[in-house]
Amino acid sequence: MDWFERDFDLPAYFEIYEDKEAEAALEGPGLAGLLQLAPGALLLDLPCGWGRLRPALEAAGYRVLGGDLSAMNLARHQREFPGPCVRLDLRRLPFRDQCADGVLCAYTSWGYFATPEENQLQLQEFVRVLKPGGSLVLDLVGRNRCLRTVEQVQNRWYQVGGLYLERVRLDPDGRRVLTERICRGTRFRHDIWIPTDPEARAALGAAGLDLDQAFGDVAGGPWSVDAERWIYRAVKLGAAQK
Ligand SMILES: C[S@@+](CC[C@H](N)C(=O)[O-])C[C@H]1O[C@@H](n2cnc3c(N)ncnc32)[C@H](O)[C@@H]1O
Repeated sequence: MDWFERDFDLPAYFEIYEDKEAEAALEGPGLAGLLQLAPGALLLDLPCGWGRLRPALEAAGYRVLGGDLSAMNLARHQREFPGPCVRLDLRRLPFRDQCADGVLCAYTSWGYFATPEENQLQLQEFVRVLKPGGSLVLDLVGRNRCLRTVEQVQNRWYQVGGLYLERVRLDPDGRRVLTERICRGTRFRHDIWIPTDPEARAALGAAGLDLDQAFGDVAGGPWSVDAERWIYRAVKLGAAQK
């Protein structure tokens, strides 16, 4: 079983990421604005997690369809933020070609797969379901900032908030960040490729997207190499359809 098929379905996951609920109040409206879609646009929130961004996306006037692999996240989504959402794998979206005006991929939800081909396939699927002229917002952690944080703590276990133990490492070639956690006796293991800026831009281009703008935070602040977030807005090439 791949790590991402297991970790997001462990009950302690919601405890570890409890802060992200409050952060949605800032991230949701910010990311909704960066999408720059018209009211009524069909937006795919992929992956949607427990739907924490849905209220802000709907408040911006978008029709939101969420999708995620985790049954536990989707169940919470239905309880707390009712609205359309489906179980799916990002490598094989169950949507027809050119159905969506926008795709939001929020909070470093790219780079999970073991091979470059699979990570590229995720972008290709986003492009397949976008209408020509439709937008993708890809919200990633900034690699340089992330690596500096990892360097400060790597290879040793430390306590986080009295709740869990954590150890962070880079893989041998420095491309992936491996995060291990132990919370209430349950072990977690995230293993995420954190691309350089040229790698992210090249992947977007190879998928058939035209990079429109890059931002350094959810408020639309300028991109910089040291920014906490690297947020890319890219547009599917081809003429927009009426
Ligand atoms: C860091 S969370 C972000 C969720 C959401 N974008 C947010 O900002 O709250 C990553 C999500 O990706 C989902 N996920 C992981 N691998 C997946 C896959 N192969 N297909 C679909 N969803 C996946 C997880 O279940 C989890 O909900």
